[in-house]
Amino acid sequence: MQSNHMILDFNPPFSSLKEEVLMGLRQNQKQLHPKLFYDEKGSKLFNQITTLPEYYLTRSEKEILTTFHSDICAFIGHNSPLIELGCGSEEKIQLILESLQRGNRYIPIDISREALNNTVEKLLDSYPLLDVKAIRADYTQALSFLCQGSEEKKVILFLGSTIGNFDENDREKFLCQLAKNLNPNDGLLIGIDLKKSPRLLEAAYNDSQGITAAFNKNLLHRINLELDANFQVEQFTHHAFFNNVKNRIEMHLISNTVQEVLIGNETFSFLPGETIHTENSYKFDLKEYEQILVKVGLCLRKVWTDKQNYFAVTYIEPL
Ligand code: AVI
Repeated sequence: MQSNHMILDFNPPFSSLKEEVLMGLRQNQKQLHPKLFYDEKGSKLFNQITTLPEYYLTRSEKEILTTFHSDICAFIGHNSPLIELGCGSEEKIQLILESLQRGNRYIPIDISREALNNTVEKLLDSYPLLDVKAIRADYTQALSFLCQGSEEKKVILFLGSTIGNFDENDREKFLCQLAKNLNPNDGLLIGIDLKKSPRLLEAAYNDSQGITAAFNKNLLHRINLELDANFQVEQFTHHAFFNNVKNRIEMHLISNTVQEVLIGNETFSFLPGETIHTENSYKFDLKEYEQILVKVGLCLRKVWTDKQNYFAVTYIEPL
């Protein structure tokens, strides 16, 4: 690799897939962490989801980045390094880089070496001189490393409403950690999905082509493949609904029947109708979002929304 696009490799301190899965399935309400969705097949299915007619999130965010790119880039500034947490889509970063001078260094952080390689390759096709330093690590590890001692203004990008997949406690811890790593003139660009009619929300997670259902069930295929388990995947049904009290879409896999599943030497029993909770996707109200930020020492400086007010891209600074 040339020096303008090197990959720095940390060994992320993860618990193994097996520990994660066993821990989740031993709970009263069985659960599997949404980060487990993203094996190779799961990442491909997620990419398909982002193009579905019902899944407005990615389209709305791209509309915002396209419509307001000059304003957004004025907030970012022309020489600030851009640190992206998770490098989902090179298209979104291109919308931003298009308006910036080539002086901005791009530092994507992701746990998947494959995702990093893909993004970096595609970006370098469009911007061969772009200074890219990709980091394979989990965010928390890489952030404290990156933010040590540097006074230069930097902007951290967290797009796609991935923040919506954190539970309240994890979200607060994560935002606190971000706040701790920001100098006074640094910025955060965060994408959030806004509250809207449950009908639209539920359609986005129950698409007519069944891609979201396949994405949800792929978790069980993955566990069968990687942990030599014996889930009968066709005996589970995808279920996604809006939880009005918690303001979130919940995804579950419902057991269709009484069944037992063997993982290693541990057996898990399921009753008919019993679920595995696989994901929460929180939907935000801007007033409440602002309060969440203030609580951790952050200040909402600017909000851009799409024409339909479905999604928001927000620029945040330390208080
Ligand atoms: C990655 N994340 C923001 C997606 C979401 O909408 O919560 C994951 C997803 N789950 C089902 N469809 C998409």
